[in-house]
Amino acid sequence: MKYVGLAFTVVVLASLFARSGFASSPTGKSGVKKESFGTLADGTPVDIYTLTNAQGMEIRATNYGGIVISLRVPDQKGNLDDIALGFDDLKGYLASTPYFGAIIGRYGNRIANGKFALEGKEYTLARNNGPNSIHGGLTGFDKVVWHAEPFQNHDGAGITLTYTSKDGEEGFPGNLKTRVSYTLTDKNEWIIDYEAVTDKATPVNLTQHTYFNLAGEGKGDVLSHILKLNASRFTPVDQNLIPTGELRPVKGTPLDFFTEPTAIGARIQADYEQLRFGRGYDHNFVLDGKGSDQVLAARVKEPTSGRVLEVYTTEPGLQFYSGNFLDGTIKGKHGHAYKQRYAFCLETQHYPDSPNHPDFPTTILRPGQKYHSRTIYKLSTE
Ligand code: BGC
Repeated sequence: MKYVGLAFTVVVLASLFARSGFASSPTGKSGVKKESFGTLADGTPVDIYTLTNAQGMEIRATNYGGIVISLRVPDQKGNLDDIALGFDDLKGYLASTPYFGAIIGRYGNRIANGKFALEGKEYTLARNNGPNSIHGGLTGFDKVVWHAEPFQNHDGAGITLTYTSKDGEEGFPGNLKTRVSYTLTDKNEWIIDYEAVTDKATPVNLTQHTYFNLAGEGKGDVLSHILKLNASRFTPVDQNLIPTGELRPVKGTPLDFFTEPTAIGARIQADYEQLRFGRGYDHNFVLDGKGSDQVLAARVKEPTSGRVLEVYTTEPGLQFYSGNFLDGTIKGKHGHAYKQRYAFCLETQHYPDSPNHPDFPTTILRPGQKYHSRTIYKLSTE
């Protein structure tokens, strides 16, 4: 668990939240625009916010699930493409989605058998993934309407999303006040700050579930993307994708993206039990580094566009998911069929099933503590 500790972080956050309110920069290039994105079945209005910066990069996000609808970024020739899978309209997200672009909470990834014990009490969650609970349950943070406030400050343009998850919601204890902010900087960084406080001890593991294809959404699979992970170990899983508890060195396995940058597809068909269990890559990597400051967790390069994505995080883990469960049945933006491995996710997180693994870094947030976690997705070209 990463709590606010660094003076730097405090200063940045203070400026982020103190100056919230609608604004656009004097140049008119960096700013936030709010529009309607439709209504839910019960009539609740939902908005979409367009964040722009001086480089022409654009993030569109809705307060429904905090979903990032699109990420338009330049390639090496300056052409903009949308590198995030998703739908053209709200209807698509309401129908069915494998968490495209969404905020995930209260607990990202799996909790074995939908059960955990805390302070002598057993808690039961919905089993919405085989025998397990995944991504916060049936109505996780990806399916609720967040309150949104646009802001502009010296870091860039953004929105602050707030949501209070009630005591007992989806089976979790405690009223959890959650705040997530998205900032788009002029350095083509998408900064995500997650904060939470609770009135009862509860597991918390917040993440973001954007499906990236650096060549552009719908343009094919991601197997030729070159990946480097700053992780010399991973948490092997059983056939239900629950960590066994082991922290296994990646060296000598097809999960070694540490020794050298390697194409995602180079070894994805290798005869290795962990790849069979995941139907490809669907593993939590144990990040190397100090474990408190932001570390470079991952770097991905797409050779034809030259686009590069770097991921920095304060979290100890990273779920690398190679879009194995996409099967072409979802028709996304512009009618694009999203087939297997048409995208990858890099979800910064604590390790899956931590509430049932006392040896893993704790995910328990207690009253009086403040949860803070920061992840930066930085785009560039090479
Ligand atoms: C999980 C995958 C899952 C995907 C969509 C990822 O975080 O690791 O197993 O299919 O989310 O639910």
